Amino acid sequence: FGIGWPEQTKTRIGGDNMMDYFAVEGGRPLEGRVFVHGAKNSALPLLAATLLADGESVLHNCPDLTDISAALGILSGLGCRVRREGATVMVDPTCRRGHTIPDELMGQMRASVLFLGSLLARDGEAVACWPGGCALGARPIDLHIRAFQALGAQVRSWNGRLSFYGPRLHGRRLALPIPSVGATENAMLAACGAQGITVIDNPAREPEIVDLQGFLRSMGAQVSGAGTGEITIQGGCRLHAGEYTVMADRIVAATYLCAVAAAGGEGELLGTQGEDLGPVLAALEAAGCETGRAPNRLWIRRRGPLGGVGSLCTGPYPAFPTDAQPLLAAALAGGTGKSRITETIFDRRFRYTEGLCAMGAAIQVEGDTAYILGRPLHGAQVAATDLRGGAALTVAALGAQGPSRIWGLDHVDRGYEGLETALAALGGNIRRETGP
Ligand code: UD1
Repeated sequence: FGIGWPEQTKTRIGGDNMMDYFAVEGGRPLEGRVFVHGAKNSALPLLAATLLADGESVLHNCPDLTDISAALGILSGLGCRVRREGATVMVDPTCRRGHTIPDELMGQMRASVLFLGSLLARDGEAVACWPGGCALGARPIDLHIRAFQALGAQVRSWNGRLSFYGPRLHGRRLALPIPSVGATENAMLAACGAQGITVIDNPAREPEIVDLQGFLRSMGAQVSGAGTGEITIQGGCRLHAGEYTVMADRIVAATYLCAVAAAGGEGELLGTQGEDLGPVLAALEAAGCETGRAPNRLWIRRRGPLGGVGSLCTGPYPAFPTDAQPLLAAALAGGTGKSRITETIFDRRFRYTEGLCAMGAAIQVEGDTAYILGRPLHGAQVAATDLRGGAALTVAALGAQGPSRIWGLDHVDRGYEGLETALAALGGNIRRETGP
C-alpha cells in the first residue's frame, strides 16, 4: 500500500485546466490506501465566517481546490489578509473594505452567496450579482433572501444585482420550508450579527452545519443545536479570531469507496471513519461490498460481483446524499444487478448518465428516477458536465474494460484535490494529460 497523500495541486481559476483530461486504463481491481482531504462544503462557509472575527482566524485541513481559491479571492478582494501554508489557511479581515462580491467570482461559484450572510452581519450591507442557474438545475436563493429579510434586512434587486441593507438586524424565529444547506448557513452567519436570539426551525442537519457551529463557537459565538431540528444563535456579540480543523470530505470519501466498488479489490481510506456515510456504506454493502471502520480509518473490499441496490432515494441528511448519487450509479452501472435511484434534491442531476451510456451502460432516466441494469462497461471518450458527474465518469472508467478519456476537469478540480493522484494511490491506472 502506498499512501496517496495529496500533492499540493496548482489551483487553477480561469481555466488553464480546460484542456486536461484523465487517461484511465480500467478493468483491473484496485488495492491501496488514500488520505481523504478536507471538505469543500465545510471549508466554504467557514471561510465566509472568518469575516465575522476581530483578528486572524486559522483553518486547518483546508483543501486546495479551485472553489476554495475563489473563496480566498473574494476575501482578498474585500481587503482581508489571506495566507496559505500547506493545508492551513489564515484569514485576517482587520483591513477589510467594501461589501461587494465581484461578479466574476459570484459567477464562478454559487457558494459565493455564503459571503452575503457574513457581510450583512458585519457591515449591515452586502451586494452581489444574482447567481444564475447551474448544471444541476435552477437553484434559486429565495430562502436565503427570506431569512435575511426576516432578520430585518431590506432587499433591492436592480440591473441583475442584489443588495441587502440591514444596519440593525434583530434575532427572531425563522422557519425554513425545506432544510436548505446554504440557507441554513447564511441564516446562521447573519444571525451572529443580529441583536438577540435567532431560532432556525427545520434547518439542514448536514455534518457541514455542525462544522460551521464548531468554528463559530471557537470564535466565541453562542450557537447550539446544529445537527438537530432547531438551531439557536444568541447574536450581537463581538467575535474573536477562531481556529478550527475542517472535517474530512464525506463525498470525496464516497468517491473512493465507489471507485473500489466499481473496479473491485480493496481500499483503505485514512482521515475519516465514515460516521457520516451510513446510507452510502449501507448501499455498497447491499450491492455486495464489505466495509469496516476503525478510528480515523475506513476500508472497503469487493471480491465477488457487484449486485444492485433495489430502490434508493436521495434526500437531506441523514438520507442518502444527492452528491454521492452519481458516484454510486457509476459503480452500479458496471455491476450485475438492478437498481432504481430517485433524485429528490436537484432536477437536472442525471446528465452524467449520457457519459455512462457511452461506456455501454444500460440506464433509463424517467423524470426524477434512473433505472440501472448493471452490465460490463467499456472505455470511452466522455466529458464531465458537473463536479460529481465528472468524478462519476472517472469511477466508471476504472471499472470499465479498456482505455477511457475523461474531459472537463475544470469541473472536477472544483472539488477534488488531485483526484488522479488519490485514485492512483488506490491502485488505479489513471493519469492527467493535456491534449488538443
Ligand atoms: C449544498 C452543497 C451541495 C449539495 C447540496 C444538497 C455546498 C457548497 N453545496 O448546496 O454540494 O448538493 O447542499 O446537499 O455546500 N433551494 C430553494 N431555494 C433556496 C435554496 C435552495 O428552493 O433558496 C432548493 C434547491 O434548489 C434544492 C434544495 O433546495 O432543490 C436543496 O438545496 P440546498 O440544500 O440549498 O443546496 P446548496 O446549499 O445550494
